[in-house]
Amino acid sequence: MNLFRSGITLLLCLSSIISIANDTTLAIIPEPLSVIQGKGSYILPAAITIAAPATEEAGWVVSTLKSQLANATGKNISAGTAASATITLQTVSGEAATLGTEGYRLSVNAKGIVISAASPAGWFYGVQTLFQLLPKEIENKTPKKNITWKVPYVTIMDKPRFGWRGLMFDVSRHFFTKQEVKQFIDDMVRYKYNLLHLHLTDDEGWRIEIKGFPRLTTVGAWNVKKEGYFGTFPTPAPNEPKNYGGFYTQDDIRELVKYAKERFVNIMPEVDVPGHSLATVVSYPELSGTPDMAKQYQVRSGEEIMDWSHGNPPTAMVNNTLSPVKENVYQFLDQVITQLADLFPFPYIHLGGDECPKNFWEKDPEVQALMKKEGLKNMDEVQSYFEKRVEKLVSAKGKKMIGWDEILHGGLAPGAAVMSWQGMKGGIEAARQKHEVVMTPTTFAYIDYMQGDAATEPHVYSTLRLKKSYEFEPVPTGVSAEYIKGGQGNLWTEQIYNYRYLQYMVWPRAFSLAETFWTAADKKNWNRFAQKTEAHMERYDIAEKKYATSMFDPIIITTKATDGRLQVQFDTELNDLQLYYSFDNTFPDYFYPAYKGGALYPPAECFMMRVVAYRGKQKMGNMITITREELEKRANKKGE
Ligand code: ACM
Repeated sequence: MNLFRSGITLLLCLSSIISIANDTTLAIIPEPLSVIQGKGSYILPAAITIAAPATEEAGWVVSTLKSQLANATGKNISAGTAASATITLQTVSGEAATLGTEGYRLSVNAKGIVISAASPAGWFYGVQTLFQLLPKEIENKTPKKNITWKVPYVTIMDKPRFGWRGLMFDVSRHFFTKQEVKQFIDDMVRYKYNLLHLHLTDDEGWRIEIKGFPRLTTVGAWNVKKEGYFGTFPTPAPNEPKNYGGFYTQDDIRELVKYAKERFVNIMPEVDVPGHSLATVVSYPELSGTPDMAKQYQVRSGEEIMDWSHGNPPTAMVNNTLSPVKENVYQFLDQVITQLADLFPFPYIHLGGDECPKNFWEKDPEVQALMKKEGLKNMDEVQSYFEKRVEKLVSAKGKKMIGWDEILHGGLAPGAAVMSWQGMKGGIEAARQKHEVVMTPTTFAYIDYMQGDAATEPHVYSTLRLKKSYEFEPVPTGVSAEYIKGGQGNLWTEQIYNYRYLQYMVWPRAFSLAETFWTAADKKNWNRFAQKTEAHMERYDIAEKKYATSMFDPIIITTKATDGRLQVQFDTELNDLQLYYSFDNTFPDYFYPAYKGGALYPPAECFMMRVVAYRGKQKMGNMITITREELEKRANKKGE
């Protein structure tokens, strides 16, 4: 044991030196804790044998390993014995202190491949790393001939920085099928995510069967199909068919929970209350403080229902809130929470709490009476009253409540955990109050935002570039790390209409977040990560998974010079790109003017600017085409 420990210490010390020398050959995302590469490679034999303990969990890992290997290599794969197997999964006792519940040791040498772990999740993550060590053709879905299936000799010791490594998937704004949720799980585990947060309810749809409340899914799960820029659509006429949407039955949920569990992923359900509840009050108007109005409403199909001009909380144009007063609301939520607690083994239930408009509550005589009775001074305290009551319902089921950071306002419910999305400040405050925190700030973790220039990307109201997402540090200075459980990328789907575009939005930013959540902070390195990302893009091409190439795109910075002239500068996320531009409405290539830094002044007659990145003679990413009018607009906006 002691010998083993000191071996690990030696490995960790050596690795920081040796892994530098090998940086160009391995491209593991997220970066492991320590990598020692040897000379040479192990070549998979014609027939592969796998030795593993005879446990159910080992069976799950072997099944993942087998199917990927069989699909891509076409090799015969059978069970073997530890002494002679190609790949061995083994349990190591006493290593818990160093490898933890998700860590692993992966050793590849002339004798074969051995993955050691203190618990089964570690094998699973060791297998994910092994896939990344194999040639990229391992991503094929059908057998590839003439590939040397070699794995570099290596010893990897690895374990995650955080236990909560999540992605939030909004299946309400646009519905995604059970099969697509499984695909999402398959995609996320390749990068060692372990938590899928399903945003199951919102104004646009209620997505989970709740026994005793059939209208949630016969009415609340359906709206009118609209395509275009979500949020700007006209209100559908009452007779337009509401046949767009869907929901998961409780059997579907059990199937998804099992599917996730076999891949070491927990699913956390979110029912977003008391705001974002239009689908709920349309289904059951009696849960609204304005039931007569609710009877006239329909589940949102992307029309404007909120006024954001005063910020958060918004002013609601239709009352999309649950009443914080009515007892039937708490009875309803008790039923919902009971069923969620039964369906989802994960200890946390997310009850939303974000962006709850107060304008209908302010006018509600029942709310005013409640304020008097309970001594509540303002609307934040009314919401806090609601949150404290629902927290009790959750804890009565033996679960913990988590909510968006608005649940801090007016006083945080005892025992509630906070998901900090409006920057880090909510998380900092909650940690100071000794509450658990998951960091998901818009600044670094909102993967529904545009990834490149608005002139090129499908429009979303904000931008989060890959490089910026990589700067995410979930533990702010001065905050005790013990309260920060980890982080999440959040994928809202207002503007995401299909799974292909979903993948484009998730990747590569979820590579970056995976590295933030798994990798030791001092092992992160942007340049190295960017190189690895390019290697993984090649894997995605083979796997036919979509991803964004926005990290290669030019960045345009517009300002006004002191003399009022339009002034343009360019930048790049990667430092080995050269930009070429034109002001004459033609398509620049590497024979065009090269950008050498500093300010450029588009001539007065220039009405269209184009700029594109090259690496040598290779065009990279998207050419950006942008009108002078747009450039002027941006420059003036900054000057406001
Ligand atoms: C949120 O983005 N409204 C949590």
